[in-house]
Amino acid sequence: MSPAASRRGTNPLRDPRDRRLPRIAGPCSIVMFGVTGDLARKKLIPAIYDLANRGLLPPGFALVGFARHDFTGGEFAAMIKDAAQAGARTPWRETVWHQLAAGIRFVPGEFDDDEAWKRLVATMHELDEQQGTGGNHAFYLSIPPTLFPIVVRQIHRHGLAEESQGWRRVVIEKPFGHDLASARALNAAVDDVFERHNVFRIDHYLGKETVQNILAFRFANQMFEPVWNSHYVDHVQITMAEDIGIGTRAGYYDSIGAARDVIQNHLLQLMALVAMEEPVSFNAESLRIEKQKILANARPAPRMDLHAARGQYVGGWAGGEHVAGYLEEEGIPAGSTTETYAAVRIDVATRRWAGVPFYLRAGKRLGRRVTEVAVVFKRAPHQPFSKNDVEDLGQNALVMRIQPDEGVTLRFGGKVPGTAMEIRDVLMDFAYGGAFVESSPEAYERLILDVLLGDPPLFPQHEEVELSWKILDPVIEYWAKQKSIDTYTAGTWGPASAERMLARDGRTWRRP
Ligand code: BG6
Repeated sequence: MSPAASRRGTNPLRDPRDRRLPRIAGPCSIVMFGVTGDLARKKLIPAIYDLANRGLLPPGFALVGFARHDFTGGEFAAMIKDAAQAGARTPWRETVWHQLAAGIRFVPGEFDDDEAWKRLVATMHELDEQQGTGGNHAFYLSIPPTLFPIVVRQIHRHGLAEESQGWRRVVIEKPFGHDLASARALNAAVDDVFERHNVFRIDHYLGKETVQNILAFRFANQMFEPVWNSHYVDHVQITMAEDIGIGTRAGYYDSIGAARDVIQNHLLQLMALVAMEEPVSFNAESLRIEKQKILANARPAPRMDLHAARGQYVGGWAGGEHVAGYLEEEGIPAGSTTETYAAVRIDVATRRWAGVPFYLRAGKRLGRRVTEVAVVFKRAPHQPFSKNDVEDLGQNALVMRIQPDEGVTLRFGGKVPGTAMEIRDVLMDFAYGGAFVESSPEAYERLILDVLLGDPPLFPQHEEVELSWKILDPVIEYWAKQKSIDTYTAGTWGPASAERMLARDGRTWRRP
C-alpha cells in the first residue's frame, strides 16, 4: 500500500482501476434548523441517507433536528424515515437506516428560547459520548434569512461555535438577503460568530456535475480556450427554464420573484464560471479570486427598459394539463406584480468579454424544464458560397446542457448530401449517459459531504454574494417602480418583451 493510501486507511484490495480514494466524512453531527421544511424533507434528508448508503458517512454520525414542533416518541425519526424513503436515489436498506436512526435526535423549542438551547447543548454532548461524534458539529440553517441572525447569535451564546473540542461549521441556504444592504448585514452577523473558512453558503447549482464540468471543459482541453473570447464569441445565453409553477411555496416566492430566486445566485455563478480566467488551482481561494473578478466587472446593460424583461404566467396548458395562472395560485395576494420570469442582459467589462453580451433568463411554467449555457459564435468573416447555399446556416454554438439531458452539443454547418453545395446546421453531441457508466450524485449529496469534510471550493464566498446583489440591485429597483407586469401564457417561452429585448440586439433566444 502506498504511504498516502495507508495514511487514509484505504483498502489495498480495492479495484486497481479505481484510482480515486473515496472521500469519507469523519465523526460528526449535523444540527438542522428548519428540519420540517420543504427543502429538508425533499433534498437534505434523502441526501444524508444516500451518503450513508454509499458508505460515505462514519458510524459516529448524528442528525439533530431543532424546531418549534411537537414530536412525540418516535415521530421525528418516522418523519425522517418517510422523507428518506420518498426522496432517496439509492436503494432502501434497513441496515443502513438502523445505523442512521441510532444517531437521530430531536430538540423542540423556539430559536430565542434559552432553555431549549440548553437542551440542544446537552443533546450534543450526549451524542459526542454515546454516538462518538467527536465534538464536530455542522449547523445547517435551512430557514428564512430573517432568522439567521438570531440562530447564529444563539449558537455563539451557548458556546456552540467554540472549536476547542472539535470543528464547528455553519451552512447557510439561500436567499442570502434580498439586496446588497441586507446581504452585507447577514454576512456581518455570520462573520461575527464564525471564521470565514467555517461558513458554507449553499448554491446547489455548484454541486451539479454538469456545472463542475464547465471548468473541466474549459481548462482540461486545448481546443476551446483559443476561441473563448470576444474575437470569436458573439454572445452567451444562459437559460434556466422550469415547467413547474410555484407549488406550495407561495409565501416565499411572492416575496422574492425569479430574479432574486435564481439569477442572483445560480445564473450569475454559471456566468462567472463561463467567463472567468483560468484559476491558479481549484482551491476555494483561487476560484473565488477569478469568479470575483468577473462579478466585479459585470453590470446590467444601462437601458433597463430595453435590456431587461420580466413577466408573470397566466393560466394555460403545460404537460398536457390545464394549469392555473400565478395570481390564481393558492396564497398569492391579488394584484401581485412579482415576476415569475426574468431576463437581463449583463455586460462584462474585461478585455476578454468587452462587447459580448451575456443574456440570462429564468422562469417558471415555461415550455419545458431545461438549464443550459449556450456560447454562440460569430459568423465566419467570409463565406465563399452563394446566398441560397447558406440560407439554413445559423451561427456556430457550443451548448453545455446542465440538465435534464446532461451533455454538450456543438452546432456547426455541414453540407447536405447531394449535388448542390447546400449547407445546414448539424449537431455533434456528447451525452453523459452514453459516455460514463458512473451516475452523477445529487448536488446536495456532494455539497453536504464537502461541508463535513471541510472542503470549500464549491461554496460561493462572502464577496461573490455581495457582488451578485450589486449587479442585480439596479434591475430590481427599476422593476420595483413599475406598476404593472407583462404576462405570458403557461407553457410558452416567456413574455413578448423578452423576445423584443433580444430582437433589439439583432438576436433571438434559443428554443432549447
Ligand atoms: C431553487 C429555487 O434554488 O432551485 C427554486 O429556489 C427552483 O425556485 C430550484 O425550482 C430548481 O433547482 P433544480 O436543481 O431543480 O434546477
